[in-house]
Amino acid sequence: MGDINLIEKCKREAAKLAVKENIRNNMKIGIGSGSTIVFAVRELAKIVKGNNWDVICIPSSYQAEQLIIENGLTLGTLNQNPELDIDLDGADEIDEKLNLIKGGGGCLVQEKILASYSKKLIIIADFRKKSKYLGEKWKKGVPIEIFPGACIPIMKEIEKFNGVPNLRMAVAKMGPVVTDNSNFIIDADFSIIKDPKDLNKKLLSISGIVDTGLFINMTSIAYIGQEDGSVQKLEKS
Ligand code: A5P
Repeated sequence: MGDINLIEKCKREAAKLAVKENIRNNMKIGIGSGSTIVFAVRELAKIVKGNNWDVICIPSSYQAEQLIIENGLTLGTLNQNPELDIDLDGADEIDEKLNLIKGGGGCLVQEKILASYSKKLIIIADFRKKSKYLGEKWKKGVPIEIFPGACIPIMKEIEKFNGVPNLRMAVAKMGPVVTDNSNFIIDADFSIIKDPKDLNKKLLSISGIVDTGLFINMTSIAYIGQEDGSVQKLEKS
């Protein structure tokens, strides 16, 4: 289960199939963030270069921008390409309705924007991420990006909704994590989340919350790499 090579293989196989089945010439493609998307971008670069295709990649973070550049793909902005054909991304957890927890890597706001302006959100993950209810597997809490100046009142509001908020602290820097958008991240534990739509709505009603890592009813297809080397494909019903 914790075998790093196995997990990498699962991510790679899922990424390969997701790219093969969804990417075509002339597409405008949103690029998510995290460790899994790295495999998808490598695969994408192989296919695009091999076929001499023209695709434009729109990054969801500084990491994604670097990944696009390093892989020799064409970089674009959302303002230049306001309607994306597809958005490729990873997830921290995927429930049975394909709702997601995202933001473990701290990039949820731009990821949700790209997913919202894309015709399809394609999620790539390994078997550890799949659960019946959100909160079953991902135990670090729901990532929530907030305006730094309202950190304390926001935490108090989260507690009123039975969440346990934790300000995410940086590792190689003193103080909190600062996002690509100069905000902070609160990881709020709500235990098992049976109604993520309702929770998301409540959280978004708190002034100072920029967005949450709950991606409700956004996923079109999830590709999940399995331990036996196969890839489970789950489509929105
Ligand atoms: C980035 O903040 C996240 O939303 C990622 O998409 C998510 O954390 C998945 O990351 P991994 O692919 O590294 O698991």
